Amino acid sequence: MGDAQNGLETWGELVRSARAAHPQAAFYVMAGDLVNWGERRDDWDLLFHNARGVYDTRPLVAAIGNHEVDEGHADLYVAQFDLPRNGPDGIEPERVYSMEYSDALFVVLDSNLEPEPQVEWLDQTLGASEATWKFVVFHHPLYSPRPGDRGQPELKAAWTPVFEKHGVDLVLTGDDHAYMRSHPLRGDQVMESPADGPIYILSVAGTKMYGQEDAPYVARRFTDIATYQVIDIEGGRLEYTSYDIDGQVMDAFSVEK
Ligand SMILES: [Fe+2]
Repeated sequence: MGDAQNGLETWGELVRSARAAHPQAAFYVMAGDLVNWGERRDDWDLLFHNARGVYDTRPLVAAIGNHEVDEGHADLYVAQFDLPRNGPDGIEPERVYSMEYSDALFVVLDSNLEPEPQVEWLDQTLGASEATWKFVVFHHPLYSPRPGDRGQPELKAAWTPVFEKHGVDLVLTGDDHAYMRSHPLRGDQVMESPADGPIYILSVAGTKMYGQEDAPYVARRFTDIATYQVIDIEGGRLEYTSYDIDGQVMDAFSVEK
């Protein structure tokens, strides 16, 4: 899921409908801005209350968004989660980490921090893993068709060559409050096959929405619809499906290896 952040009661309906429709999900991934006020306990209580029956039964794999950071610190976020402490030296533990589940590697980066100090660790972590499937999760999208695109040129320059080098499959982000799936991309160019470059996903799970316009890298986009995504892996086949709150399929594709 992308940002919950606002409208946590409506978001709660979305996440509980995800749980009901896909009870086999082993864990939940959120790409930052879980809440609007990351330094306020009330907001977190609202998040977990609305995810009752879901986040008390399955792990939550979270990335840090800008709303979890206050003057550079993410104290309450770090204090309340118990995330892997295997990130780069020199970065506060739990802000950047990796985990493997079955044959899939998830690397969680912190796009609020400078990208360069995460590069060497990212390169080593992706290179050392023998997982068939590799996913990277962080908050700020490297590709976003938002009008007047805010862009993330520094993050993109630092990280995309590493994603491409190690065959990252999906890059999962949020922040721009809309839905977008890119074509496979390599060096900013559209590739035919997912084998040739990562697919970049931007999504939103809450009620705050922004507009979009066309861009050459877009494979599918829509606005004003909160979604959750299911990633289903069976050996060398990955099926990705995006659902709205009513369980309607909004986007789907598969990848074979
Ligand atoms: Fe954000």
